[in-house]
Amino acid sequence: MSQTILAPSILAADFANLKKDIDMVNNSEADWFHLDVMDGVFVPNISFGMPVIEAISRHAKKPLDVHLMIVQPERYVKDFALLGTNILTVHYEASTHLHRTLQAIKTEGMQAGVALNPHTNISVLKDTIEDIDLVCLMSVNPGFGGQSFIENTYEKVRELKKLISEKGASTKIEIDGGVTNKNAKQLVEAGADVLVAGSYVFGSENPTETIKNLVKTTQ
Ligand code: DX5
Ligand code: ZN
Repeated sequence: MSQTILAPSILAADFANLKKDIDMVNNSEADWFHLDVMDGVFVPNISFGMPVIEAISRHAKKPLDVHLMIVQPERYVKDFALLGTNILTVHYEASTHLHRTLQAIKTEGMQAGVALNPHTNISVLKDTIEDIDLVCLMSVNPGFGGQSFIENTYEKVRELKKLISEKGASTKIEIDGGVTNKNAKQLVEAGADVLVAGSYVFGSENPTETIKNLVKTTQ
């Protein structure tokens, strides 16, 4: 089994001490920075945008995994490329011309991700899976950190894994929302490649240790 990628979600970091939390991730066993961009329209919350990502980008020593929870995400593909984004994920539910958007993301030199809300069936990706570098399965309803994990996600991971291998694609499966040491191992066993964890990491007494333990759980 290849090693699981761990991506702490900066949404749960201390925004008044962002540099400290970025350095913590830089010096930890985590692999990516997961950055949640919310517009108050696609989801009922507003998080942070370009200036904050630009600041994070200046200090981050690991890939930036940007999760856009915004309507018409195709409008900002170039901007996020210029900010140093490595993986840019748009929501299936927010993209009328998903195929075109995926191509645009790749043209800008980034990996292309598609996120699915908990109610969206895996089958909608049947015709695009070979063009997708990463599928982000939402294991909570997007918009907020700290929510509880939706158990149906395991079934979706298995279905998605099946679709990926049937098509011979190399798409990674990312799980986003409510990830803890209670579900990490089971998610990896079901086929998850990337685990996003926000409040579980930053809400803990010692985030570096929590990351270390989470990595250990998945091995
Ligand atoms: C939710 C975001 C998640 C969130 C995860 O809309 O996409 O990335 O930050 O936070 P936790 O791990 O606290 O559920
Ligand atoms: Zn996210």
